[in-house]
Amino acid sequence: MPLRIAVVPASTKAGRETIRQLLETESKPFVRGIYRDPSKAPSDFTQNPNFEATKGDVGTGAGLDFSSADAVFYIPPPTYDGTDQGEWATRCAENVKRATQDATSVKRLLLFSALGAQHDHDIGILRLNHISDTILKDVAQEVIVVRPGFFHDEFAHALEEARADPPVFHTWITPVDHKIPMVSLKDIAKVCANTLLAGSGKPSPHCFKLFGPRHYSALDVKEAVEQATGRKVELKPVERDQLAGFFGQQIPQAHLQEFVDMVIAVLPGGIIQDDFDEDESTVRGDIELVDTLRELAAKGTDK
Ligand SMILES: NC(=O)c1ccc[n+]([C@@H]2O[C@H](COP(=O)([O-])OP(=O)(O)OC[C@H]3O[C@@H](n4cnc5c(N)ncnc54)[C@H](OP(=O)(O)O)[C@@H]3O)[C@@H](O)[C@H]2O)c1
Repeated sequence: MPLRIAVVPASTKAGRETIRQLLETESKPFVRGIYRDPSKAPSDFTQNPNFEATKGDVGTGAGLDFSSADAVFYIPPPTYDGTDQGEWATRCAENVKRATQDATSVKRLLLFSALGAQHDHDIGILRLNHISDTILKDVAQEVIVVRPGFFHDEFAHALEEARADPPVFHTWITPVDHKIPMVSLKDIAKVCANTLLAGSGKPSPHCFKLFGPRHYSALDVKEAVEQATGRKVELKPVERDQLAGFFGQQIPQAHLQEFVDMVIAVLPGGIIQDDFDEDESTVRGDIELVDTLRELAAKGTDK
């Protein structure tokens, strides 16, 4: 019988791409995507007979129906509405825990996490993941925790900056030759789909890091942006003391400091830097940053 897999929240980037990968898989698993607003499910999903979109909210616990699911994929969504991130993480993870335990069919939980989330301090907003990992680590027979690098897609803004006049690239990665782990959503989706279908074969809970083919510095991102857009860009490093001003244009004030703290944690001397090395369980994807940016640039031009 094909496996039945529940993904929550299905509208997260990792959730969406993993569903896409699962629906293309030969074993044809049945996928339930749980959305706050099911009308947001992409039409290519809803047209697939192996997919259903249902209404559910990890924040309230309403609609978290994992009944008949063999495996659950939970991606803790960050909150930016002023709620304390720790309180939010606890509430959501407790709701997922209850729903998992209520559904006796669930044998496997894949938990999306982040590099550095094993620490309970100095990781800024990633305490969301530390708390989720802690609450859910033994909630199913098999719990697998994936800790990916930064999504390539987070650099989509650099393409917009490159199209502006003059073309620039503002970067928080300093010094500009400091390399950090990054990975494409396609590689994430492939690895998460395979893990949901086949498990890890390792004792539970099993944690692994997920990197792309190599780490990238700001200089590498600049080069990839230039190749993807065909435009030369000027690098504009955002130094540590300017980070709050820089991110203050995008992140609400109540969450700004912990966002900056996360960034500082991946810069030289930060606690997450220790996680940049590969270990025996690290998985590597094969998609280069330039290929993701080329694809995003092509989509942008299609609009
Ligand atoms: N971004 C990265 O580079 C990166 C790297 C490593 C790890 N991570 C981890 O990935 C996870 C996702 O982070 P992200 O920033 O990339 O977020 P994201 O995938 O953009 O997901 C946010 C989405 O979650 C949905 N959501 C929020 N609250 C919800 C609720 N109460 N119930 C149901 N759905 C809800 C919202 O979709 P709707 O508005 O459509 O409901 C929202 O757009 C985090 O745990 C993060 O630490 C991210």
